[in-house]
Amino acid sequence: MSYKAVCIPGDGIGPEITEATLRVLRAAGAPLEFEEHPAGVAALEKGLPVLPDSTLEAISRHKLALKGPCTTPVGGGFTSVNVGLRKRLNLFAAVRPVRSLKGVKTRFEDVDLIVIRENTEGLYSGLEHEVVAGVVASLKVATEAACGRIAHWAFRFATHRKRRKITVFHKANILKLGDGMSLRNARRVHREDYPNIDLEELIIDAGCMRLVQDPTRFDILLMENLYGDVVSDLCAGLVGGLGVTPGANYGEDGAAVFEAVHGSAPDIAGQGLANPLALLMSAEMMLHYLADQHGDASSERCAERIRAAYEGALENGEKTRDLGGELSTEQFAQAVMARL
Ligand code: NAI
Repeated sequence: MSYKAVCIPGDGIGPEITEATLRVLRAAGAPLEFEEHPAGVAALEKGLPVLPDSTLEAISRHKLALKGPCTTPVGGGFTSVNVGLRKRLNLFAAVRPVRSLKGVKTRFEDVDLIVIRENTEGLYSGLEHEVVAGVVASLKVATEAACGRIAHWAFRFATHRKRRKITVFHKANILKLGDGMSLRNARRVHREDYPNIDLEELIIDAGCMRLVQDPTRFDILLMENLYGDVVSDLCAGLVGGLGVTPGANYGEDGAAVFEAVHGSAPDIAGQGLANPLALLMSAEMMLHYLADQHGDASSERCAERIRAAYEGALENGEKTRDLGGELSTEQFAQAVMARL
């Protein structure tokens, strides 16, 4: 049995880490066949739109993709491919597991939390206009439907993963209507359907302080789009950085796109310095997802083999420079493959 998936190498460090990840997947015998499609600057360079219809169509068909990071110009230029992809495919739930790894020394041990981010609304709606010269309004959108959808999804996910607590980060003291709506929905879903899972509410500023004081007290964090974007990177910093933080985006119609939390890292692109682990861990999430969806034990075993191999490499000090090691992107992939 093998599954077809789209692969988007992306921009900057994207092609390097994608190649390293695909090599490890092949060496591990992952039951995956990838079909490569462009997006981002890579698509523009081929004379295509930044998010080609053919790429969207392929993901809609296979309902599965592994995606490298795509560059978005700052303060002008084209709109984000990443946001476009999430909106066009209605990938409303972003899941970012954050856990301590043996061999990656950080201030805290035993961090094991998951950030769930609503992926389609909030300030990411990109609705901005200049009201009069010198005055810009950026609209933060919240709908009852999307707030209810992500709350249901998060509680279902928590139940499935046998997690005990969801903490909602919000700013409903100031944004009484918008953030108030997401908070109300989380409370309602908790009360009506999932009273056995604890619900905690924290105003996001205090929540961030508690995160850096003791992240081990958290289990699942649920929040709206922009908060989730920022807090994901904060959480990455707690366990070793962006090189070790994977992610997945899930949609309503069964589409799932797996990508690292980090971006295209133009400062280190093309130098063999990028850590491919966050993308490899995203691929590991894809294998667990396939195992869940299809009851396929071979995908599960493959994911476990990959995890044991990279954990072994890290514990043995075989690491890329972002983690204090000496290895290049390719050498780290080799170190993982040698342990499979
Ligand atoms: P970034 O995540 O690309 O980089 C932040 C810092 O982390 C940089 O110093 C970078 O070298 C380092 N870093 C990131 N990934 C790394 C890895 N795998 N190994 C070693 N070091 C790593 O964030 P930045 O610089 O703010 O954004 C760069 C571009 O990426 C922008 O165009 C942004 O829009 C885009 N981006 C794309 C995302 C996506 O495709 N999902 C997510 C975040 C940003």
